[in-house]
Amino acid sequence: MTSASMVPATPAEYLFQANALGPTRAASDRFGRVLAQAPEAVLPRMRELEAIDARDREDGTPRMERLRQVPPATGRFIAELALDAPEGAFIEIGTSAGYSTLWLALAMRARASRITTFEILEAKHRLASETFRAAGVMDVVEPVFGDALEHIGAIEGIAFCFLDAEKEIYEACYELVVPRLVPGGLLVGDNAINHFETLGPVIERAKSDPRVVAGVVPIEKGELICRRR
Ligand SMILES: C[S@@+](CC[C@H](N)C(=O)[O-])C[C@H]1O[C@@H](n2cnc3c(N)ncnc32)[C@H](O)[C@@H]1O
Repeated sequence: MTSASMVPATPAEYLFQANALGPTRAASDRFGRVLAQAPEAVLPRMRELEAIDARDREDGTPRMERLRQVPPATGRFIAELALDAPEGAFIEIGTSAGYSTLWLALAMRARASRITTFEILEAKHRLASETFRAAGVMDVVEPVFGDALEHIGAIEGIAFCFLDAEKEIYEACYELVVPRLVPGGLLVGDNAINHFETLGPVIERAKSDPRVVAGVVPIEKGELICRRR
């Protein structure tokens, strides 16, 4: 199964614990009802961002300007996980234009929580703020402009963190977030399969970290899920 260097050869070898870590059936059903009652302005803004993201991917827009959003199925998946997370702080690392945040905002509204989302590029932070105003979710979302790595150290009692930034910072984020998770708290990292070459070491770290139960769920680009024991 593993190569001579003991580095697992394929992402498939990391598809461990997946069933135990995904959203519960109850959370999934509950989110279905939340979605059916989503505030009127949220879904049109999602559709708008999906159209911009699709166009960006085809017209040669430079990488750093592209929105690079999660697909809708991942948005729903993380929202279901957030709905079921314990009490505590909710954060997102990598806002872009706020598409994944809109999904999470639906869960926040349903559970009367708020999410803080960090974006390092000012233009994207401004675009995301526009998104949240247009969608009418400013009451459940706090957009923060800046490097998440400089902010996370001040947050205690993290219930849920969605990590979707440059892959090179995942390891630093992991080391900052995991000690701050409440029992049962979740760190969810996007791109665990399509960026497996870069993320292999952090996935391996999670797999052998006694503080968490971890696994990769093979939905869309692959979600690394770490649940604090
Ligand atoms: C893949 S995009 C996020 C997409 C977003 N989660 C969505 O699905 O709509 C990654 C974003 O992370 C931002 N980013 C990268 N490093 C960051 C850091 N250290 N702190 C905050 N944001 C960061 C990038 O500027 C970029 O907008």
